[in-house]
Amino acid sequence: MRICIVGGGLAGLAFAVSLSNALAEDSDVKISVVEQRDFSSRGATFGLALNGQVALQEICPSLLEELKSIGILLPTGGYMLPWYCVRDGLLEHARRCQNVTIVTNTSVVSAIDKCVDDILVTLEETSADGTVNTTTVEMDLLIGADGVRSTVRSLVGAPPAVSSHTKCWRGALNDLPPHLSHVLDTPIDKMMKTESGLFGIFNFNASLKGFVSWVATSKNLDIMTPLQALEGLEDSNDVTLARGLLEASTQQELEFSTILSTIPLEMETGWGGKGRITLIGDAAHALRPASGLGGSLAFEDAVLLTRAIAKHKDSGESMDAALREFESLRFVRCKTILDDQTRIAESGYGTAANSFKWTPEYEKWVFAGPDADLNPPVNMYVGDEEDVAEGGEAGPKQQ
Ligand SMILES: Cc1cc2nc3c(=O)[nH]c(=O)nc-3n(C[C@H](O)[C@H](O)[C@H](O)COP(=O)(O)OP(=O)(O)OC[C@H]3O[C@@H](n4cnc5c(N)ncnc54)[C@H](O)[C@@H]3O)c2cc1C
Ligand SMILES: *[C@@H]1O[C@H](CO)[C@@H](O)[C@H](O)[C@H]1NC(C)=O
Ligand SMILES: *[C@@H]1O[C@H](CO)[C@@H](O)[C@H](O)[C@H]1NC(C)=O
Ligand SMILES: *[C@@H]1O[C@H](CO)[C@@H](O)[C@H](O)[C@H]1NC(C)=O
Ligand SMILES: *[C@@H]1O[C@H](CO)[C@@H](O)[C@H](O)[C@H]1NC(C)=O
Repeated sequence: MRICIVGGGLAGLAFAVSLSNALAEDSDVKISVVEQRDFSSRGATFGLALNGQVALQEICPSLLEELKSIGILLPTGGYMLPWYCVRDGLLEHARRCQNVTIVTNTSVVSAIDKCVDDILVTLEETSADGTVNTTTVEMDLLIGADGVRSTVRSLVGAPPAVSSHTKCWRGALNDLPPHLSHVLDTPIDKMMKTESGLFGIFNFNASLKGFVSWVATSKNLDIMTPLQALEGLEDSNDVTLARGLLEASTQQELEFSTILSTIPLEMETGWGGKGRITLIGDAAHALRPASGLGGSLAFEDAVLLTRAIAKHKDSGESMDAALREFESLRFVRCKTILDDQTRIAESGYGTAANSFKWTPEYEKWVFAGPDADLNPPVNMYVGDEEDVAEGGEAGPKQQ
């Protein structure tokens, strides 16, 4: 069985490791991870929530231990990590897996599901001098782990991402210049409001000496750099600190922004998979970064898709059935968490008076991981006696 995973982000790499480990006995399994860029990007910070830990424990227990040892434990039970540590950890494990091939600088541009024997996947490899080599390979399964702007999603005709009208910049500093050394005295994470968004500083010194990262968001799309996003704030130590960090960052970090987008899950359109093609991670369900759950849901996807494939492979049933079973197991859980994260983000990331505070039962359900009950508890928010789990507009009662 030849499996093509499109995208070497957290979802794609986690799934490669997970599937390779689960099917290790099987010598006819060949997994290819196709990544359009390379692995040089460093990202900012990544909160590994409890449900993601449960999933990683199944995917690769030794990696979970490594990450816990470099992460900073948060009161929620999550670990704050530099994003690249999670990516590099998965990459290293994926490279050690039997039958996993990872190619970089290569994009998947089209896929034709012939339904009978295999899927024809067209790849474009860009070499360092800019020349493009196009090849077509035959695959049995195609897994779109290619993020919020997923090509695979468009190939199967699923609706594209929806913009959240928020710009986002990220950066990381290894060696703080001496005049910024007091950043290391700040709390682990520090969030401040700007005129049009938020500025966050993450101080990793407790586990990675001298490492600091930052993230900036802005609802004003005309703003071109995070420095501009800080304009208009009254001078304070925090603002000086934020400005200092930006001034010490690379031009690329200041200029490169992404527009945050979501992929809402709707009953009418379903998960989006078709035939022997399915989607995982942000390509299936990109959420607002409210409680930091997107990556953890991607790890849950990796676990459950692996289990579905392993189960159907042994039973000799067709592989479409495995993918559809996976999608139906995931739909309600991912939709519930996605809609919840949108509500929290829209209400100002919990800073507004009418913020949505999780009930203990809902929190327990979110953090339960891949084996959580298929349906969420009825009461999701404190003070809310109505059932918003169905996705209704009933907001929580004002407290
Ligand atoms: C500001 C912010 C903060 C966040 N914080 C957290 C957090 O604290 N905790 C958490 O769990 N989640 C967090 N998330 C969400 C999390 O980052 C994502 O859910 C997760 O990284 C998704 O991983 P992915 O592999 O699905 O997608 P991506 O990371 O987007 O990876 C997709 C990969 O596919 C490649 N690709 C795209 N198209 C093609 C193609 N055609 N061919 C080949 N390759 C292709 C891309 O180059 C990319 O490497 C945050 C998100 C944001 C924006
Ligand atoms: C997978 O790896 C095993 C062990 O190294 C090897 O024997 C087998 O030939 C590989 N299978 C394929 C399809 O490459
Ligand atoms: C991938 O592309 C980058 C940017 O063009 C280039 O620097 C790098 O050498 C390429 N890597 C490979 C393995 O071709
Ligand atoms: C194009 O890619 C194929 C398959 O990877 C390889 O065999 C071939 O040599 C490449 N051609 C060029 C011009 O790089
Ligand atoms: C940063 O980490 C180093 C090494 O662990 C430690 O010696 C130092 O006290 C830390 N600095 C602050 C301000 O906490």
